[in-house]
Amino acid sequence: MKKIECIFRPEKLDEVKEALNKKGFTGLTVTDVLGCGKQKGRKEVYRGVALHINLLPKIKIEIVVKDEDAKDIADLIIKTARTGNIGDGKVFVSSIEDAYRIRTGESGESAV
Ligand SMILES: Nc1ncnc2c1ncn2[C@@H]1O[C@H](COP(=O)(O)OP(=O)(O)OP(=O)(O)O)[C@@H](O)[C@H]1O
Ligand SMILES: [Mg+2]
Repeated sequence: MKKIECIFRPEKLDEVKEALNKKGFTGLTVTDVLGCGKQKGRKEVYRGVALHINLLPKIKIEIVVKDEDAKDIADLIIKTARTGNIGDGKVFVSSIEDAYRIRTGESGESAV
């Protein structure tokens, strides 16, 4: 299993949720976060490098999926969340060792 952690613009949340839902992926966790990337939270950088870090509101979603679905889901999110401007966000993929559905005790891929 893989965890796809994805940080992107808050105004893209509805579109990303709908795109995932259309593909049958309904399990996800959404968090409001603050962050910055290369530009240190500036929409434009004047005279070279920004001195201070400015944190901008972003959305983080976490989705755990079967290995075979990870690439498709990452591609779908990238396509949907992209505007082409700086600050569009990041996707991080990591391995998940195990998962459990609390109600039934199922584990592994059948629990996600
Ligand atoms: N290396 C990182 N580790 C953890 N979170 C990050 C990292 N880089 C970016 N983020 C998160 O992603 C958000 C969006 O980053 P952003 O898209 O500005 O990255 P960037 O590398 O500056 O790319 P761009 O040049 O397109 O702006 C940040 O606000 C932060 O929450
Ligand atoms: Mg940036």
